Amino acid sequence: MNPADEPLAEVVPTREGYDRWAEIYDDEQNPLVVLEERYFPPLLGDVRGVDVVDIGCGTGRGTIPLVRGGARVTAVDFSDGMIARAKRRPEWREVRFVEHDLHQPLPFAAASFDRVVSRLVLDHIERPGRLIGELGRVCRPDGFVLLSIMHPAMMLRGVQARFLDPESGVKIAPRSAANEIADYINGALAAGLRIDHFSEHRFDEEAATNCPRGEKYIGWPILMLMRLREGELAPCHRRVERAPF
Ligand SMILES: C[S@@+](CC[C@H](N)C(=O)[O-])C[C@H]1O[C@@H](n2cnc3c(N)ncnc32)[C@H](O)[C@@H]1O
Repeated sequence: MNPADEPLAEVVPTREGYDRWAEIYDDEQNPLVVLEERYFPPLLGDVRGVDVVDIGCGTGRGTIPLVRGGARVTAVDFSDGMIARAKRRPEWREVRFVEHDLHQPLPFAAASFDRVVSRLVLDHIERPGRLIGELGRVCRPDGFVLLSIMHPAMMLRGVQARFLDPESGVKIAPRSAANEIADYINGALAAGLRIDHFSEHRFDEEAATNCPRGEKYIGWPILMLMRLREGELAPCHRRVERAPF
């Protein structure tokens, strides 16, 4: 048993994992999503009339509320399965979907969007600094980048994104990256972005009432949020050391 007291999952390539997860992704109670839904929207604020890109849109959990909020929405993902699920939502025709691997440069001109959001994706991205640089590049100077990320402490405790495959009965983990907080912070600073908000969130009793499956995580830091804007910190704050693991 790992520290989360659950059997280890079979790790598969990230895209394959999400293609297989897509059909049941929205039906599962996900402790991380429950907590994220509490903290992400207030940091995003009003999106009426602005251009927003949802990076790693998945089944559209965060994409469709952007449409409802009055934004012009582009959504990017590399999983056919997840995008196909997103297209079952009534408002999907109002979204411009782009199939793309986020390990490659984004297929958008500089300063294309007022808001660049990415929800629970960066823990799958190796060397996330490169993608964070791309997110900053496509964001307009008066806009911001807003990221929610599974807290790196989860992986150190043996937990990563995973699901129980209904077909095989096997626990499957789309490959995650062993990123540390320093990788995200250094990525932002190297891209010349200012960290305007940074927070870490523990699963709590209130979240557990909406998601009893998450009870075992009460007290664990499971979520991180970062909001980034143009403009650097003072030079003395320009680098954070990775933990010596
Ligand atoms: C945990 S899901 C989150 C989906 C959605 N943002 C949400 O919060 O519900 C992670 C998503 O990131 C996508 N993803 C992971 N790595 C990717 C990559 N390298 N390129 C494109 N999409 C990727 C997956 O296909 C999946 O849809």
